[in-house]
Amino acid sequence: MNRGSTSRGRTAVIVGAQWGDEGKGKIVDVLTKTFSVVARYAGGHNAGHTVIIHGKKFILQLVPGGVLRPECTSVVGNGVVIDPLAFLKEVASLRAANVKVDGNLFVSNRAQVILPYHRMIEMGSENAPGRVKIGTTSRGIGPAYEDKMGRRGLRVADLLDTPLLRTHIENACREKNLIAHALFNSDPLDADKMFAEYAAAARELAPFVCDTALLLNRALAEGKSIVFEGAQGTMLDIDHGTYPFVTSSSATSGGAATGTGVPPTSIDTVIGITKAYCTRVGGGPFPTELLGAEGEDLRKRGNEFGAVTGRPRRTGWLDLPLLRYAGMINGISWLVVTKLDVLDHLTEIPVCVGYKVDGKATEEVPAQACGYEKIDCVYRKMAGWATPTQDIRTIQDLPKAAREYMAFIEKETGARVGMISTGPDREQTILAPEFVEELGLQAS
Ligand code: GDP
Ligand code: IMO
Ligand code: MG
Repeated sequence: MNRGSTSRGRTAVIVGAQWGDEGKGKIVDVLTKTFSVVARYAGGHNAGHTVIIHGKKFILQLVPGGVLRPECTSVVGNGVVIDPLAFLKEVASLRAANVKVDGNLFVSNRAQVILPYHRMIEMGSENAPGRVKIGTTSRGIGPAYEDKMGRRGLRVADLLDTPLLRTHIENACREKNLIAHALFNSDPLDADKMFAEYAAAARELAPFVCDTALLLNRALAEGKSIVFEGAQGTMLDIDHGTYPFVTSSSATSGGAATGTGVPPTSIDTVIGITKAYCTRVGGGPFPTELLGAEGEDLRKRGNEFGAVTGRPRRTGWLDLPLLRYAGMINGISWLVVTKLDVLDHLTEIPVCVGYKVDGKATEEVPAQACGYEKIDCVYRKMAGWATPTQDIRTIQDLPKAAREYMAFIEKETGARVGMISTGPDREQTILAPEFVEELGLQAS
């Protein structure tokens, strides 16, 4: 922990420890009772973060979870790729639900902008014969990050610069239309129409835009606490995930620093979110996947359908080797286990405790997607509790088998379980007293 400046605010990164949809949105919402700033650091509107407050449901895509508490400041960091139309639509629906967004929601002037040709290229590429189909969310995320790294992207500051915007769109459309037509036979996009639409969006976006790195570092210096809201998950990270079946950003905790401009030395704690089982949406390796009726049953009980695309999520048992890997890559000190209630009906719960390749145990996670085909999962059957947990609010009140399940996860991962979620609502949360104390949380 950085003790350099004792008066600076506390910080914690919330990171998905699996393939996304672990329940990060709900957990960020619980933490914002105490933390005063929430900053998104990666991804775009491929994310879908569900928060349920007293039965009322919000699905946030670009706007950080902090927006649901009016006293909280929310920041869309420079590491995010922002589709201005999607952002404004989300803001409009939040306003319609009487959620305050003015003066408490900020967008980085350095965030990259998603434009329609990003979606055009992605659609073409996903459907092109001979290309690996990733099963993306079709939001233009990958091509927008490609342009960022290719140093030909448009940043939010440039979007607000009308003459620059016009030149950028004209040049980019010429190039992208040529490429998309040659490679995928796509119909060309109209640069004039695009300019008019995005110049109008820029005017609406302008009041939200500022130098968010400055805002965040000032907030820290004033003693305010910040939670960095991860999107996607460790196994979807561009470097550390199941490449190429990943997203195009640094979803892991390292991304919190580069994606916001808050230095790594100012990050105190990393909190990994994991379901009590496992899911993924889209293509790619999934060692513990259940393909038959058991998988279908888990999908139904867990309501495992994508918050953004509605696609059915693939389901499987908890994968401890992957959780250990996520712990190593992110530096996870606390785990939050969500959706415990989805396992309430089981008398026995298989958990993957190790991988074997050619009969030999290995701790290594394959670098190649095809490497996963060689993995044999070693399972251990844990006792189920076969009783409802949705209304339980303390660890002591959990059934003994559920406590043993948590203790086993702690033993196998070396991280402590700080919070357990037993239902989608804000209130359906169990906090460990040591977690409350270390993070300075207000207990519910
Ligand atoms: P995120 O992307 O990580 O924020 O997760 P999503 O919101 O995409 O998916 C998590 C889903 O599980 C949402 O529908 C949540 O409302 C729901 N959820 C979160 N925690 C729990 C829980 O403890 N139990 C149950 N049954 N549902 C939960
Ligand atoms: P949250 O933040 C689950 C998956 C897509 C696809 C791959 C690449 O809600 O956890 P992309 O559109 O990013 O290029 O798609 O990544 N994916 C997610 N899966 N949760 C998400 O976000 C995801 N964001 C992207 O399904 O397999
Ligand atoms: Mg989600």
